[in-house]
Amino acid sequence: MQMTEQKPVTIQTATPVKAMPDAQTVTAVHHYTDRLFSFRVTRPASLRFRSGEFVMIGLMGENGRPLLRAYSIASPSWDEELQFYSIKVQDGPLTSKLQHIQPGDEVILRPKPVGTLVHDALLPGKRIWFFSTGTGIAPFASLLRDPETYERFDQVILTHTCRDVAELKFGEELIAETLVDPLVGEEASEKLRYYPTTTREESPKMGRITTLLQDGTLFEDLGVTDFGPQNDRAMVCGSIGLNNDLREIFESRGFCEGANSEPGQFVVEKAFVG
Ligand code: A2P
Repeated sequence: MQMTEQKPVTIQTATPVKAMPDAQTVTAVHHYTDRLFSFRVTRPASLRFRSGEFVMIGLMGENGRPLLRAYSIASPSWDEELQFYSIKVQDGPLTSKLQHIQPGDEVILRPKPVGTLVHDALLPGKRIWFFSTGTGIAPFASLLRDPETYERFDQVILTHTCRDVAELKFGEELIAETLVDPLVGEEASEKLRYYPTTTREESPKMGRITTLLQDGTLFEDLGVTDFGPQNDRAMVCGSIGLNNDLREIFESRGFCEGANSEPGQFVVEKAFVG
């Protein structure tokens, strides 16, 4: 008996529709404390960014409108995914929901990176200081793994101040990874200094960075004797209070604030809050 060839069957599938415009998929989530978490998402193929820049990230709100906030990209520019570091605010419109994301979920990511914590906004110098509090460390996580940081400066100093010891964990992991990074590890081992401090829990170094800078402890601890606008460059990322206080301190010491259009001796950006 001759078998009749079966007619090919066309399987009808629903046209794939992206649930949200600019949707990216969450690939990993890590909770550090009940106030802090980091997450990784897929990277849009076309997205190029300068280390230190931020993008708008969010979720679709109940009213059908996207709820977006600025998030610094914490991953290096060569990474095939994007990493972000976030606070959890229990009644925050976005982070009260965002803190519950799981791998496989989608977030909205507007692929238009911008920001002032970029090398282009600073004049050449000898020493670069990255001053951060809380999640303000995120842009520096990208900059610390950018070879340009070590090409441009002889010394790279990251200060990170948090309320308690557990909140320093993200920075400790970042430093450990940077020191063995195949691209920058060798240079980082020679040039990078890490200066973590806490303000509300005992740790080897306590105090607000503004106080430690003003009373000279910071420079004494690091053996810096010539801090000034001639050789030093600074990037600042933290709360509005920290940013304003450090801006005032730098200006009183003769530093000029820089921007993309006009590079200077220091730049400032607000860490995500709320
Ligand atoms: P403090 O504990 O004395 O407020 P937060 O978690 O609230 O974002 O704060 C992160 C860190 O930044 C805390 O250690 C906090 O110190 C510190 N901080 C907050 N405001 C300032 C400021 N104006 N100058 C220096 N450090 C600040």
